Parts: sequence; C-alpha cells; structure tokens
Amino acid sequence: MAAGYLRALKLLHQTFHRHPPGQRIHILGRFLTAPFLRTLDVIPIGARVLDIGSGHGTYPRLIVEDRAREVIAVEPDLRKTLLGFRHPKVRFVCGFDDCIRGEFDVIVIYDVIYRLPPEERDKLFKRVYDRVRPGGLFVLKDLDPSNRLKWQWNRFQESMMDRFFGLTIGEGFYIDSPAEIGERMARAGFSDFRARRVDAWYPHAHIIYTARKG
Ligand SMILES: C[S@@+](CC[C@H](N)C(=O)[O-])C[C@H]1O[C@@H](n2cnc3c(N)ncnc32)[C@H](O)[C@@H]1O
Repeated sequence: MAAGYLRALKLLHQTFHRHPPGQRIHILGRFLTAPFLRTLDVIPIGARVLDIGSGHGTYPRLIVEDRAREVIAVEPDLRKTLLGFRHPKVRFVCGFDDCIRGEFDVIVIYDVIYRLPPEERDKLFKRVYDRVRPGGLFVLKDLDPSNRLKWQWNRFQESMMDRFFGLTIGEGFYIDSPAEIGERMARAGFSDFRARRVDAWYPHAHIIYTARKG
C-alpha cells in the first residue's frame, strides 16, 4: 500500500511538476484527501473511459498508467483544461459532458455531482446511460451523508473553500443517500447497482457506486 502510494506520488509529480505552485498544491490536496488509489480497481483493464468533470486529470492519469486503454477527460473549468498535461492516452476536452459523442466502456464521475442540483442528476445519468456501451459500466464517486460527523465536516470545509478560494465552479452542496443514487441509476436504465464505502482513515465519507448497462 505504502509503495503504491509513493509510486502514485512520483507519477503525479512527474505529470504536474510544471504546473503553477497554486495548482500543484490543489492537486496534492485532492490526492491526499480523495481515495483515488482505493478506487482504481473498478476500472476494467483495457477500458476506454470517459471522465466527466475530470478536474486536473489526476484520476485519468492514475488509471491510464495500469488499467485504462484511453481516457477522454472532459472538464468545463478552463483553469484546469488549459493546463491539461500531455499523455498519448489521455485527451482533455473543455466543456460539459454533452459535448462528447461516441460510446465508452466506462464513464466515471468523480466528486462532481455534489455541484449538481437534484433535478439535474436524472438528466445527467440518462446522458451517461446513452454514452455507455451495452455491458459497460457507470462509476460514480460521491459522499455518503449517512455518516453525520464526516458529512458535517465535509460541508463546512467545502463552504470555506468556496468562500475563500473559489477553486471549483458551480454552487451548492447536494448529496443523495446511497438508496437515492441506486434509484436514480435504475431510472436511467442501469442495473447491478453496487455501493462500497472507501473512507477508512479519511475525514470524509467517501463512497463509490457502480452500475452496469445491460
Ligand atoms: C471536486 S472537483 C473533482 C475533479 C476531479 N473529478 C477529481 O476527482 O479530482 C469537481 C469538478 O467538477 C467540475 N464540474 C462542476 N460542475 C460540473 C458539471 N456540471 N459538469 C461537469 N463537471 C463539473 C468542476 O469544474 C471541478 O473540476
């Protein structure tokens, strides 16, 4: 585990060392607080992946190293896409998910939907369904509001970040329960819904959901 952690840190350093210092601190902070390494195993080896709201591309960079065949990283925030790193198997697109065409083995949405009002989520999940190939996977990383203490801390931290730094576009902080996510995924057409908590030793209630297109 420690070796994997150090290897990932080295890889991210090689990838982002030319970024401005403020961005590097942001990227490092994300890596230290999000369970990227615990959520690599959901990506099937050789998959073609679309990552919606990919940020600086930390998750794309990690999955393309050992698992994904190709990643399209779509992100609406120009501050992040303009600095997109160069890698032969990762392509950055500046925009929202609806600017992407084609089908993917896996679609990932990692810590993004908390910015999306509940009424927008069903529409997004339906668009994801349309872009996943039959038999493909929807991977959604979110937070689990059933852990009250971690949840309150997360809410407080995010409101402070918004107020003082404005690092993430969008407004608000909306979280569905695992049951609500399962229902939304089913409404979009997905089956084989699974949820796994990945928050041990983290101050945030990280949870990862997967569902399959039949
Ligand atoms: C907390 S960051 C997570 C970034 C990246 N997925 C990661 O795990 O490091 C949330 C990202 O969602 C993006 N975002 C916000 N609203 C979005 C939307 N409606 N569609 C796609 N991305 C969005 C933001 O620009 C930001 O980069």
